[in-house]
Amino acid sequence: MNKDGPSIKEIWETIQKETEKRVQAEPVLASFFHSTILEHDSFSSAVADLIASDLGRASVQPMLLRSVIKEALNSSEEILNGTVSDLLAAKERDPSCKYLSEPLLFFKGFKALQAHRVASWLWVNSRHTLAHYFQSRTSEVYGVDIHPAAKLGEGIMIDHGTGVVIGETSVVEDNVSIFQGVTLGGTGKEEGDRHPKVREGVLLSASSTILGNVKIGKNAKVAAGSVVLDDVKEYTTVAGVPAVKVNEVSSESPARDVDHGID
Ligand SMILES: CC(C)(COP(=O)(O)OP(=O)(O)OC[C@H]1O[C@@H](n2cnc3c(N)ncnc32)[C@H](O)[C@@H]1OP(=O)(O)O)[C@@H](O)C(=O)NCCC(=O)NCCS
Repeated sequence: MNKDGPSIKEIWETIQKETEKRVQAEPVLASFFHSTILEHDSFSSAVADLIASDLGRASVQPMLLRSVIKEALNSSEEILNGTVSDLLAAKERDPSCKYLSEPLLFFKGFKALQAHRVASWLWVNSRHTLAHYFQSRTSEVYGVDIHPAAKLGEGIMIDHGTGVVIGETSVVEDNVSIFQGVTLGGTGKEEGDRHPKVREGVLLSASSTILGNVKIGKNAKVAAGSVVLDDVKEYTTVAGVPAVKVNEVSSESPARDVDHGID
C-alpha cells in the first residue's frame, strides 16, 4: 500500500469500528452489516463477499465467485493495493462520502472497479469466458461496462457509475476521476489499438465521450458533455462538441480537487 497512507489493517479496523456504530444507529440493517462486514476477518474477505453476492445468479452460486475473487485479490499485492487506493480515492474526493465503509457497501462505481480488477486478472490468466461473465454482470448490476482487457491504474474514482463504458484497448492511469455517463470508445473507423489513453490525474466529467486512440494528457480536464476526438495536452481543459481548449489547469491534480458533489 502507499507508503504515506494507512495500512490495509488500519483501514479494515476503521471500517469495522464504523460499522459497529452503524448497527446501533440503524437496526433495520443490522444483519446486513453483520454479513457484509462484521462477520469477516479481513478486508479482502469482505470485498469478495460483497461483489460475489451482487454478481451471482441462480445458476452461478455466489460461493463459487467468492473463491475466485479471493484468489484474485490474494494473487498479488498490486490488485489489493488497487482496491484499497480506489477506496481511499472515493473517500477523499467525494464530499458526500463520510465513512470508509460507504464505497464498499454502497458505491456502484467502487464495486464495479473491483469487479473489473478480478475480470482483468482472469483475462491475463486466459480465463476469458469467466472474465466476460464478470464484465457482463458488472454491466447489468452496476451499470458500468469495462472490457476485461482495459488497463486501469490505482486510485481511480468512478463516481455514481451509471452509464460508464470503457473499451478493450483503453488505458486509464493512476488517480483519474470518472463521472457517470463517460465513454472511452472507438470511433468505429480504427481497428486494433483503437481506444483512448488517459494519463495520470485526469478529470473526465459527466457524460463526456472520448473516441479513438487519443491521448488525454496528465492532469487535463474534460468538461461535462464534451466529445473529444483529438489528443488533449496535459494541464488543459477542453469543452464542447467537438471539444476544444477552453482553459489551462493550474491545479496539480484536477481529478482530486474538483467539487463535484450533488447534494
Ligand atoms: C470543465 C469544468 C471542470 C471547469 O473547468 P475550468 O478549467 O475551471 O473551466 P471554466 O469553468 O473556467 O470554463 C472555461 C470555459 O469553458 C466553458 N465551459 C465549462 N464547462 C463547459 C461545458 N461542460 N461545456 C461547454 N463549455 C463549458 C465555460 O463557460 C468557460 O467559457 P468562457 O471562457 O467563454 O466563459 C466544469 O465546467 C465541468 O464540466 N465540471 C463537470 C463536473 C461534473 O461532471 N460534475 C458531475 C457531478 S455529479
